[in-house]
Amino acid sequence: MVWPSPLISLFILCSSLLPLCSGKYRITAGETISGNHTIISAGETFALGFFSPGNSTNRYLGIWYNNIPQQTVVWVANREAPLFNNSSGVFTVADDGNLMVLDGSKKVLWSSNISVADVDKNNTIGLLMDSGNLVLRNSNNTADLWQSFDYPSDTILPGMRVSLNLKTGQSIHATSWISEDDPAPGEFNLAIDGSLQLLTRRSSGTYWRSETWDGRLSVGALENINNYAFYLTYTVNDEEANVTFSLSRDSMPAMFKLDRSGQIELLSWFESENQWKLLSSIPEEACDFFNQCGPNGSCDRNSSSLICKCLEGFEPKVLTEWEKGNWSGGCVRRKKLSCDNTNGFLRFESVKLPDQSISMGDFSMTECRAACLRNCSCTAYAFSNFSGAVTTRCLNWVGDFNDFVQNYSGGHDLYVRLDSSELVGIGETRNVIDKNRRRVIIAVATVACGVLLMGALGYFLWRRRLSKEGEEAESILEVNNRGSQVLGGEANASELSTFSFSTIQAVTQNFSEVNKLGQGGFGSVYKGILPDGQEVAVKRLSKKSGQGLEEFMNEIKLIAKLQHRNLVRLLGCCIQGTEKILIYEYLPNKSLNKLLFDPTKQSDLDWCKRYNIVEGIAQGLLYLHKHSRVKVIHRDLKASNILLDGDMNPKISDFGMARMFGANQTEANTDRLVGTFGYMSPEYALDGTFSEKSDVFSFGVLLLEIISGKKNTGMYPTNQTLPLVGYAWQLWREDRAAELIDPSIRETCLENQVVKCVHVGLLCVQEDPVDRPTMSSVIFMLGNESAILPMPREPLFSAVRRSATVTSSSNLNDYSINQVTLTMEQPR
Ligand SMILES: *[C@@H]1O[C@H](CO)[C@@H](O)[C@H](O)[C@H]1NC(C)=O
Ligand SMILES: *[C@@H]1O[C@H](CO)[C@@H](O)[C@H](O)[C@H]1NC(C)=O
Ligand SMILES: *[C@@H]1O[C@H](CO)[C@@H](O)[C@H](O)[C@H]1NC(C)=O
Ligand SMILES: *[C@@H]1O[C@H](CO)[C@@H](O)[C@H](O)[C@H]1NC(C)=O
Ligand SMILES: *[C@@H]1O[C@H](CO)[C@@H](O)[C@H](O)[C@H]1NC(C)=O
Ligand SMILES: *[C@@H]1O[C@H](CO)[C@@H](O)[C@H](O)[C@H]1NC(C)=O
Ligand SMILES: *[C@@H]1O[C@H](CO)[C@@H](O)[C@H](O)[C@H]1NC(C)=O
Ligand SMILES: *[C@@H]1O[C@H](CO)[C@@H](O)[C@H](O)[C@H]1NC(C)=O
Ligand SMILES: *[C@@H]1O[C@H](CO)[C@@H](O)[C@H](O)[C@H]1NC(C)=O
Ligand SMILES: *[C@@H]1O[C@H](CO)[C@@H](O)[C@H](O)[C@H]1NC(C)=O
Ligand SMILES: *[C@@H]1O[C@H](CO)[C@@H](O)[C@H](O)[C@H]1NC(C)=O
Ligand SMILES: *[C@@H]1O[C@H](CO)[C@@H](O)[C@H](O)[C@H]1NC(C)=O
Repeated sequence: MVWPSPLISLFILCSSLLPLCSGKYRITAGETISGNHTIISAGETFALGFFSPGNSTNRYLGIWYNNIPQQTVVWVANREAPLFNNSSGVFTVADDGNLMVLDGSKKVLWSSNISVADVDKNNTIGLLMDSGNLVLRNSNNTADLWQSFDYPSDTILPGMRVSLNLKTGQSIHATSWISEDDPAPGEFNLAIDGSLQLLTRRSSGTYWRSETWDGRLSVGALENINNYAFYLTYTVNDEEANVTFSLSRDSMPAMFKLDRSGQIELLSWFESENQWKLLSSIPEEACDFFNQCGPNGSCDRNSSSLICKCLEGFEPKVLTEWEKGNWSGGCVRRKKLSCDNTNGFLRFESVKLPDQSISMGDFSMTECRAACLRNCSCTAYAFSNFSGAVTTRCLNWVGDFNDFVQNYSGGHDLYVRLDSSELVGIGETRNVIDKNRRRVIIAVATVACGVLLMGALGYFLWRRRLSKEGEEAESILEVNNRGSQVLGGEANASELSTFSFSTIQAVTQNFSEVNKLGQGGFGSVYKGILPDGQEVAVKRLSKKSGQGLEEFMNEIKLIAKLQHRNLVRLLGCCIQGTEKILIYEYLPNKSLNKLLFDPTKQSDLDWCKRYNIVEGIAQGLLYLHKHSRVKVIHRDLKASNILLDGDMNPKISDFGMARMFGANQTEANTDRLVGTFGYMSPEYALDGTFSEKSDVFSFGVLLLEIISGKKNTGMYPTNQTLPLVGYAWQLWREDRAAELIDPSIRETCLENQVVKCVHVGLLCVQEDPVDRPTMSSVIFMLGNESAILPMPREPLFSAVRRSATVTSSSNLNDYSINQVTLTMEQPR
């Protein structure tokens, strides 16, 4: 049976915009909610209506969990202006297009208070989403004009964020209630500050702070009791800093709540026990309270009695008070810093980095330290650099150390500037006097610490393991990737979802052979259709990745950040037990090798299409090498890893797999084949060394294959020259390069372009990596008609590698873009 098409589109419209098709989830102009009527979100997770908190007789418009018997209010609209004494009010979409709460006399108690364009005024609707977000939209489109998530009450739900506009200082923050009976804004708020740390504050100042963000994409924990994971994800650009709370998909309700006494509570609903359980609460220990030991004092988490002490080189400011246990005066330096060469640094391990750090940008460790030394008022520096981090962070401090905590589990190293006379007698390893001979030690020490931190920080939220019980069981992780725009990437950052294993089984019909698209060194690929109808490619990784869960997640997050129109999009993942599964966009035209090497199909790929494919691959590779946040060397570029979309645009797949499967697997065994014979550069095949120039080599081979429609076969050290490469060279030398073209498309080709491509291909497959152009030069050479290209060297590979190749490339062989440009300026 064939659906009449209008019906299908109506159906799709209804399922995607479900709330619009029924009155229950939404409120439109003129409609009102009052008394005990409610709006229920489409999935019936949340309800919106009037309620009276605790013993109060005042009424408020709020959102609460619909399915949880004890009313759990997560958001309040008119928290400052209640309906007094049981009086009745209404919630409506007013004439000006805003959501409003009005009392009996039509006085506005609360309004979403945005200015709505005149044309939209009769057209706005309020929708209660399943996330607990109340949004105001123009009924014609899906852009939110206003959302309650931007105006939290005391609760941060999954998907919500706290944020700070670094330009205007505007913030999104949570504010505690005054009491159980009164949701009016109380004493405490939870926000993020310019040093990228979470803070609870009250009018008298900071109450608690998290440690400064150290550059990792997210901080989170696996909650073993409920088998879910939650994350705080940091994103920052010049404009704005966000910390978003997210949770694994199929989990129970959970939320952060800022209670009226200033505690941040992580609560989760336990269906079986029919109650909310407190999983974690902070501040918890004495050292958690802000600046417990006064300015320049140090709070020791390991000490049970005397928690406060002065750092080396410091002494109590008021000794008599300090000895009485009154630490509020803090400590002062024994010897004032003179701004000269007599300064050194003393390393403190595992500290909660002090408040009010100054971010110095993307510095290296040495630059970070140098920056501190250069500035006389700099008192300390710290540096963090994680694999998989969004950014490296170099922090400097000026003036007091506030909220300095030692023995902070998962803390960082802080280098405190001291007069070198203070450093005498202190252990060599911690003592970093500014002398050249020490630099090496510092660098080594730092690298070692970095590695330790990476391991230690895994499942800590605010440096504490929240749950000690339970085995590491199956887990479903979700990461919201809201990174800022990537250079050369798509405008919109993607959302990386997680799927349960059962979903994936259903989607692929239990990994049936029928759905199998292929098999590679890293696992098998299946076609699947998600419940929402989207076609996807499901890659079930072979189980020997040798990576832990966290490392693996870091890699996935990293790879999800790589977005470019010539890279296959990673849509989601599924991790359960030993299963690691990646979900990619599905590309209908399959892989390039299936068209290119099939005599019946290769003529479909005319020259224009092939040239477009070559350019696309080059762009994708350039992005991986140069423009992505982390440099990625593909290491297995080949025709079967180039997928084609509906318009025959190429997309590189399997990038990042080499990273995920560990960097040291250079040998090509069938289990973990990294690299494929015929595409491998000689230095990679023979010595196992690789660089972006090994990818350039593979690109060269691929380019020659695309031109000729012939597969390059061969292997070192059996062959001295790869057959296709040798053939191309021979034609080239005889000035017959155009004859390399696949005969089936000869009519469609542009001879100049073909010759240029063969030329570039031969440059890419030269034996010495130094001779090969970079991808940016390749793109330049392909794109500029007038560019004069250097002569390629004969692609003869010595089976026995030269030992200790000290190749100094002559100017002629250095293909930076600038030099190619220079050549162009010569008269022709
Ligand atoms: C609330 O709704 C119930 C029906 O669900 C109704 O019987 C009751 O009278 C309502 N109460 C008020 C105060 O409107
Ligand atoms: C409400 O009042 C009762 C009795 O006065 C008291 O026991 C209870 O704790 C109060 N509840 C709240 C939330 O204030
Ligand atoms: C609420 O009722 C109390 C008495 O029950 C009265 O004193 C108070 O003024 C009323 N408040 C308002 C705002 O009407
Ligand atoms: C407020 O309304 C509730 C029922 O909705 C009723 O039980 C209560 O007595 C009322 N209180 C006052 C002060 O009117
Ligand atoms: C709406 O916002 C304006 C300022 O932007 C403020 O003066 C006004 O009081 C607000 N109205 C309501 C009902 O919140
Ligand atoms: C909105 O509706 C009101 C009455 O329902 C009408 O007077 C007004 O012209 C409408 N405005 C627009 C822009 O359609
Ligand atoms: C929304 O749709 C209605 C009818 O389809 C149309 O009259 C109106 O102009 C649209 N409004 C906007 C803002 O697009
Ligand atoms: C912060 O979050 C908002 C809403 O999700 C988003 O529009 C914005 O781009 C984010 N900013 C950054 C720096 O990620
Ligand atoms: C701090 O205490 C923990 C356990 O209480 C211990 O494992 C650790 O070694 C202590 N650290 C220091 C520096 O004493
Ligand atoms: C604590 O010591 C400071 C000086 O360090 C002093 O000003 C303050 O009064 C003392 N507080 C108490 C309670 O003694
Ligand atoms: C030292 O650093 C502080 C904070 O970044 C800055 O305000 C000050 O201008 C710097 N001083 C010098 C001499 O660079
Ligand atoms: C803390 O130490 C710094 C020097 O590092 C000093 O300038 C400052 O005055 C000290 N703070 C107090 C409160 O003494």
